Amino acid sequence: MDSYLVTGGNKLAGSVNVQISKNAVLPMLAACLLTEERVGLFCPDIADVSVMKKLLAVFGKSAEGKGLVFIEGEPSYAEPSAALCSALRASVFLLGASLARFQRAYLPMPGGCAIGKRPIDLHLSAFRALGVEVKEGERAVECRVIKKRGGKAELAYPSVGATENLMLYAATAEGETVIRGCAKEPEIVDLGLFLNSMGAKLSGLGTDTIVVEGQKKLHGTKYRPSADRIECGTFLVACALLGGEITLLEAGLEKNDPLRLKLLQNGCKIWAKDDKITIQGGERLAFSVKTGPYPSFATDLQPMMGVLACRSKGESLIEETVFEHRFSYLKDLKRMGADVCCKGNAARIRGGRLHGEKLNAKDLRGGAALVLAGLAAEGVSEISQIHYIDRGYADFDKKLSLLGARIERITHE
Ligand code: UD1
Repeated sequence: MDSYLVTGGNKLAGSVNVQISKNAVLPMLAACLLTEERVGLFCPDIADVSVMKKLLAVFGKSAEGKGLVFIEGEPSYAEPSAALCSALRASVFLLGASLARFQRAYLPMPGGCAIGKRPIDLHLSAFRALGVEVKEGERAVECRVIKKRGGKAELAYPSVGATENLMLYAATAEGETVIRGCAKEPEIVDLGLFLNSMGAKLSGLGTDTIVVEGQKKLHGTKYRPSADRIECGTFLVACALLGGEITLLEAGLEKNDPLRLKLLQNGCKIWAKDDKITIQGGERLAFSVKTGPYPSFATDLQPMMGVLACRSKGESLIEETVFEHRFSYLKDLKRMGADVCCKGNAARIRGGRLHGEKLNAKDLRGGAALVLAGLAAEGVSEISQIHYIDRGYADFDKKLSLLGARIERITHE
């Protein structure tokens, strides 16, 4: 198990490229089951993509290449193992994709970060509304299409994964499918544009109603998903926290507008032109953040804001409304000396000093936040269990080092 050895105190300077969006690419990889033609897809080099490639292999699809990945082969029906499905949340997309392609699906319960209960009831009730028969077992779910036709489905909460699963299913269902109560995250728009580039007909992307005109067949494509707004946001917060000035390349700021506003409140200066974002750290003033479905503040950036609050003047307030267990990193910050008072889904944090500690990452984004905390602390910190961070950040240590941070990856036998 590798760990990061992190020494605090350095300001950031320089520029790094932003990776392709993890959350955009994962459902797109599942969507490759919808065609036997070759798909070229730009992917980030992260552990979740490697697991998704393994899952595609189970369905007879090869996925070769780094950067631009080519997915090809005639897919065949398969029942993926619990071991693979429990490795990531995105295995849930195999439900929609397998139903679309084979009219049936078997899925052991999807895993992912332990940031909440993360049930899949919204996915299943929407599939039922579209005429899919669903059998829920204790450890797996089995679905069968009675008649592969469109219809109407409504989500009681704008779940990102459920919206994407329905889009995958409806792309090749007969007739029109109207999905109401959709999530509006940029990754939904990206998935829709990807499917449309394969010949699907989805409209209303980025609104709460998506209309899908089912197509008999989809074809191959070559597609470059958007920049990863969460990785980009992580570096923006790092600069606010550590000071200095950095430029993020191949990035996009418009999808991170709620973060931009909070960083301005914190005292940063931010400029964006074309696909470049430059940020200069500022006074570090207290702020308040409330997470929610897009266009509200992204829950995936909440832990980084918690760390920024620890080093900002005055009392900041952080409210988490999306996942129930997304504050586990706060315990670690307390061990580093942070002044945190957490009640239910709200945390009040008074800015002060942090000192180095030995810490364990417990989930992807919380783990990245602990690395930032180590860089903002006095002394040395060791962050273990960094396989969580590898799930979503390619070369996290290398990029931070390039920007002047002191971070080293230690490989333990
Ligand atoms: C996706 C992202 C994740 C991000 C989240 C919210 C991927 C692979 N992951 O996760 O990084 O943090 O969106 O922006 O894209 N819920 C139910 N029943 C369901 C589905 C969801 O109760 O059937 C609840 C969840 O437990 C959670 C909330 O709805 O409390 C939001 O979940 P959802 O939007 O589905 O997130 P994911 O797709 O899992």
